[in-house]
Amino acid sequence: MKRLLFLLLHLISHPLIQSEPALSYEHARQAVLTAEEKLMTGGHTHLSTQEAKVDDIFMEYKFGELSQGCRNAEQNAAALHFFKAKPLIDRSVVFNFLQKMPKGAVLHLHNTASVSSKWVIQNISYMSGMLRCTTATGHSVLTFRRLPKEHKCQSQYVLVADERKNSVDRQVYDNNFERLINLYTPVPELEYPTITHVWDRFQDIFSVLGDALSYLPAFRAYHWQMLEELYNDNLMYVEIRSSCKKLYDASGRTFPRKRTIRELYALNNKFTQLHPDFLGMKIIFAVHRGKEVDQLRETIAEFKQLHEMYPNFVVGFDLVGQEDKGKPLYTLLPALRDLPSTARLFLHGGETNWFGSSTDINLLDALLLNTTRIGHGYALAKHPILLNAVKTRHIAVER
Ligand SMILES: *[C@@H]1O[C@H](CO)[C@@H](O)[C@H](O)[C@H]1NC(C)=O
Ligand SMILES: *[C@@H]1O[C@H](CO)[C@@H](O)[C@H](O)[C@H]1NC(C)=O
Repeated sequence: MKRLLFLLLHLISHPLIQSEPALSYEHARQAVLTAEEKLMTGGHTHLSTQEAKVDDIFMEYKFGELSQGCRNAEQNAAALHFFKAKPLIDRSVVFNFLQKMPKGAVLHLHNTASVSSKWVIQNISYMSGMLRCTTATGHSVLTFRRLPKEHKCQSQYVLVADERKNSVDRQVYDNNFERLINLYTPVPELEYPTITHVWDRFQDIFSVLGDALSYLPAFRAYHWQMLEELYNDNLMYVEIRSSCKKLYDASGRTFPRKRTIRELYALNNKFTQLHPDFLGMKIIFAVHRGKEVDQLRETIAEFKQLHEMYPNFVVGFDLVGQEDKGKPLYTLLPALRDLPSTARLFLHGGETNWFGSSTDINLLDALLLNTTRIGHGYALAKHPILLNAVKTRHIAVER
């Protein structure tokens, strides 16, 4: 094959030199198609007879849906905004098939955005004692404790159960409630005309729900459900990015961060005992990238303790939040270089369209810091040297 390609390239670049044995047009054509196919994911995978049968079934589904999409652009799920494609995906046999197939790991998941909003409504929002208040900018905060200062709330706290009881229609109340914690809209192009609009709404959701999920009973139920949903999608392993916030209970008592880790550790043990075919979860400690170097140093000191206590569970460190608006890695270097050598970095990098910006250059610093994986890394395509380093160093890119 290599020789064929070589000949072919030669032929293309020197069309007038006739000394080489002429490759037939058909052969040349097929050689390129085959060579490209081999470069695709799975290009070198050999299927057993049974696997080939499954593949045939799957490809029939796939081509069926692709040709449907080709005939009707408005049903071409692959080319639609996710929100518009979602109903098609839910009905898709390809999706259904993929959902049942065994999968390896989820390596990029933010825990507080990992459970379906329907479940959160049906379960967390029905837990007794849930309160809602409103900030000066009109955003809701959900919680199980009254902390006006921390919540930046200007309104009174109201019991969600009371609001629901007094609403005209419980279903309508729950639907509106779901909108607080789900980005979905049938008209994303109108509601989120720019990346800033959608990022702002996205980050809001974390502040709507964050404090409610730090309530010990909610925290436990939520993370159990996270594992359930992953398991039901036939996943085997997960590494979650979590800020490991301090938890509190109904009496208002708060617990140090190591309790948060202990809770996750216990949940993980219980879950893997119940489902021995699930390998379990590990934690990547995630800090908001808006922090100043000094604050980051403090958080890293806490991370170090947790990592020392659970070296095989709290495995690494990352910075989260809109990369374009956060501090560049370069300015945070003094703190980041202070991480223990056993802890690994799983840095977000290059999640930007801005070529040459500091966010774009985050990729370089992530590599110099010996990141184990890169979150998103969209900008890699514009940096041939960095892309090459990522390949030769086998650094996985999490899309
Ligand atoms: C969540 O809510 C659903 C619907 O009310 C219920 O069937 C389920 O048992 C609840 N799960 C948990 C863990 O509370
Ligand atoms: C990254 O790894 C290289 C090669 O092992 C090492 O020389 C360098 O000091 C490491 N850099 C950091 C910031 O740890």
